[in-house]
Amino acid sequence: MNPTTRTITALLVAMTAIGMTACRGERTDKPPRQLFPDMDDQPRFEAQRESEFFVDGRTMRPAVEGTVPWGRTPIDVENEAVAETTWAETFRVQRARFLAEDEAVYAGETGAGGEETDPARWVERIPIEVDRELIELGRKNFNIYCAACHGYEGDGMGPVGQRWAGQIVANYHDEKYKDPALFTGRDGYIFYVGRQGLYDANGVLRMPPFKQALDEREMWGVVAYIRALQASRGVPADSDLVPESERDRLAAQHPGLVDRAIAARAAAQEPVDQTASVEPEPAAEGGVQ
Ligand code: HEC
Repeated sequence: MNPTTRTITALLVAMTAIGMTACRGERTDKPPRQLFPDMDDQPRFEAQRESEFFVDGRTMRPAVEGTVPWGRTPIDVENEAVAETTWAETFRVQRARFLAEDEAVYAGETGAGGEETDPARWVERIPIEVDRELIELGRKNFNIYCAACHGYEGDGMGPVGQRWAGQIVANYHDEKYKDPALFTGRDGYIFYVGRQGLYDANGVLRMPPFKQALDEREMWGVVAYIRALQASRGVPADSDLVPESERDRLAAQHPGLVDRAIAARAAAQEPVDQTASVEPEPAAEGGVQ
């Protein structure tokens, strides 16, 4: 390096150092340089402030007459003729969910109030129409969200359920989840637990909530599917409730099962009584044929 090159290099280093530090932490009264002033300083009114510009003194302007507000319900819900049109349906659903006025549908509650353990607080039956589609929706979501712990059959023996360090995961085939005289047997309570989760007396989580993942209709679907799972247990292999195709499959997979069921009944001298072993919940009836 000759002396000239050395001087130039030193100068460059010094300039770079100054360039990097000069603006840091320095205060100045001069206005900042604005390359695009119109983007930095956009004239605007503060919300809720009084306006000197508009005669009515309001900074926040009312919507121009006839404006269709976005995200609100522009329909007259009292007016049935309008409310029943298909285009209005989306808005009606939005509004209904926003207001969540219908306690049965949105909270699973009867409106009677009371403790969680009070059966009267919970609707006994699913308050929306239960059809095949709802149960299928429920099956899908149950298998995604609940089966890991509660098991695909709802017996609490899912892969996570078996290793669950805390409490024993609920087995939906327990009588207490079927008997509507108990709060745990009410559709509304199962819906509520699925949505809100479970906490112990100290607020420690026992089961996570799924409200964030499943909306009301989806959770009622899960409840319907749980009812279908319950109804599918304890059905004698030769019962009329088991479709012919399934009976053949069972007979092939478990040789002697159907014969044993018939023999067991004959031994007990019982007439075929399907209602004794299976009580199809009216709620789930639509889909369990
Ligand atoms: C991470 C594991 C896990 C998942 C996932 C899970 N649960 Fe649970 N659930 C539990 C445990 C554990 C209990 C028992 C808690 C207890 O009794 O302390 C339980 C209990 C319940 C009960 C009975 C409540 C009672 O008071 O006896 C219902 C109903 C229930 N779960 C519904 C659901 C539904 C619906 C889903 C899916 C949307 C779901 N659970 C997903 C772990 C889980």
